[in-house]
Parts: sequence; C-alpha cells; structure tokens
Amino acid sequence: MDMYFFEFKMPGRTLCWDGGSGRIGKPMQRLGGSRVLVVTDKGVRGAGLIDGVIEGIEQAGPRIVGVFDEVPSDPGIATIESCTRLAQELEADALVSIGGGSSIDTAKATLILLCEGGDLRDYEWNEYFASCPVLPHIAIPTTAGTGSEATHVAMITDEGRNRKLMYQGGDLIPSMAVLDPRMTISLPPAMTAATGMDALTHAIEALHSTWHQPITDGLAQQAIGLVDLYLERCFNDGADVFARMNMLLAANMGGVAASNSFIGIVHATAHPLGGLFHIPHGVAVGMMLPYCMEMNLAYEGIPAIYRKVAGAMGLARESDDDEAASRKAVERVRGLVQSLGLPADLKAAGVPADSIQAYIDEVMEDRAMMVTPGNPGRQEVEELISRAYQGRSQPRPPKASHSL
Ligand SMILES: [Fe+2]
Repeated sequence: MDMYFFEFKMPGRTLCWDGGSGRIGKPMQRLGGSRVLVVTDKGVRGAGLIDGVIEGIEQAGPRIVGVFDEVPSDPGIATIESCTRLAQELEADALVSIGGGSSIDTAKATLILLCEGGDLRDYEWNEYFASCPVLPHIAIPTTAGTGSEATHVAMITDEGRNRKLMYQGGDLIPSMAVLDPRMTISLPPAMTAATGMDALTHAIEALHSTWHQPITDGLAQQAIGLVDLYLERCFNDGADVFARMNMLLAANMGGVAASNSFIGIVHATAHPLGGLFHIPHGVAVGMMLPYCMEMNLAYEGIPAIYRKVAGAMGLARESDDDEAASRKAVERVRGLVQSLGLPADLKAAGVPADSIQAYIDEVMEDRAMMVTPGNPGRQEVEELISRAYQGRSQPRPPKASHSL
C-alpha cells in the first residue's frame, strides 16, 4: 500500500438515550458549565422541545441564563454576532444547542467569536485552532440529517456575498452529542425525508471520496444500512421511536464519516441549488445522488465501492459483478427518492432551463469538487446536469463480449 495519511475526529462522548435530552444536567456540571445559554430556533422552542432539557439541567445545579432562539434556516454572520453578544452579556460559560444543523452550527461559530472576537470571515476554511479554552457545548439534534452534533465542521452563510463559509477544526467538535429520538418525533414527513436523504448522501459521499479511509468506510456502510431500513418507516410513522433512534444513529455516523472524508460531486451540485433556487439541502442532495452515482460508475474503483453500498442495503448477490451490484444500489436510491415524495429531476424541482449555465459555473467552483472521484471536467458535469434536468438515467455501457 502506498504511504498515506488520515486523521479521524469525533466527539469524546455520544449519549444515545430515549429521553436522554432531559438528563444532561450532571454531564453539563462535569463539563464545568454553570451559566448555560441555549441556542435554538423559534420552531423548536414553540414545539416545546427545549423545556425538558432546561428542566433537566437546572435540577442538577447549572443555571440556564438565557435562550437565543433567533437561529434562521441558513444562519449568517449577523446571527452569529448577535448570539455571541448575548452570550457575553449573560456571561454564559457553556452552550447547549437544540435543533437541526443550523442551531448546532450557530453554537459552533459562536464559540469561535467568543474566543477570538473580530470578524468571523477571518477564520473560514483553514483549520481553526482556538487561541483560548473553548466553552463546553452539548449538541442535541432535532433532525436526523446533518450529523453536525458529531462533526468538526460548521456552515455559515456570508449574507453579503450570498455564499457558504465553511469552518472546521477539532476545537469545534461538541463536547457531547445527545441522540434522543423524542426530539425528532414531531419532525414533519417532508423534512424527515429531506434530512434523511442528506444522511444517506453523507455516507455515500464518504465512501466514494478520494479521501475515504478505513474508519469512515465502516461508519458509512453502517449508516447506509440504517437509512435503508428506517427512513421510510420514519416517513410513514413519525412516532416510531425505534426507527427515529436508528435514523439519528445513521445521521450521526454519516456526519462523522463525511466530515472526516469530505464530500464530493453530490454536494457540489446541491450547494448552488440552495443558493440560486432555494431548494432545501436534503431535497437537493437526494435528487442529485442517483445521477452522480451513475456518472461515477465510469471511474476506476467506483463499482467496487458502490458494491459496498449495495451490500449495506442487502442487495448484492455473490453472482453479481460490481457493476450489476452498483446498479442495484443506484436503483434503490432512486426508489427512495420516489417513495419519499421528493422531486426526481431538476425540472420537477423548478430549476429554470435558462439558468443552467450559471448553475454549472457555480458547481465547477464548489470546493466539494476537490476530492470527488474521477476529477470530472466541465463537459462531464454538463452531461450530468443535462441528465438530471431531464430525468434521464445513464444507460449501462455495452459489455465487452466474452470469448469462450
Ligand atoms: Fe449535506
């Protein structure tokens, strides 16, 4: 094997417990938090999801000094600045984020500003190393999608330039992640579907990334198997606590896998769909996933990797060659998009035909293109987008005939 390098990061502590979100007072105390700020959004607060968390913390001793519930769906720098100001005014010494990726990422970025001050843009992209001790942060997801509770990455919007800023560094990993299915049972079916497809995409992108590594390969395959078994169950019956727990685990493992191995063409083609056409992230990645997988099949080594996807889904037979097993995985992903009621192509998602070239420009600029398989050029991406627009699947390449 060639010499290679990889690093693997995840939280020091993950608590997976039905009802566990109401019992984090003692862990918070042990982490040194005594004046806790809750970071969340109005929807989560309105649904009553933060009440039990607050009660559990205060029973054990630490005080809740405030609730920042101003997190929007794509938090920008202004949101981080106001959350930071509130934390400073209240002299908070710990954060608890309760919500989807937006709230958890807001807490992570707030930790940067609390430590460094100044302009958040200065800390983007390059590995962030905190110059002071970072406050304790417990993250409690209310969606099973991003896995942000378990990652060293935060995505924040630069409102001025309408682009996503990426923050990364071990100091941003939450001190503890709490997976409690009670926090996700009220998530509506459409959001359950979209966020679940994000979890699946993270796992598949972690496997096909040119930076994939043995630890993330294992986590990704387990995550794929869980999505295959439990996402439709959550979609059809939101109160299925067992299925909800398994989707939280899938999102967690998918997030750990993707944050350590990075993401590729599926996210590169999905990011501008959010920026230009306001298509929700999970809808965008779920829609693009089967088209991108078909394109990737042409690249060396990918059929063997997608055989693992099919294997995790229980679809690979011993008699299947890698290509045949991979096709089954692509068809299963396509079937999921359909059974979850998500748009199957760019046209159905409302992307205007006259914006396609501008859209492709942004795809080519996206940083997620960096480690995507095959290093595709503009022409290949144009073909991909044209198929994804018209809903055309890629025909199977003609097989070399066997001479007997
Ligand atoms: Fe994603």
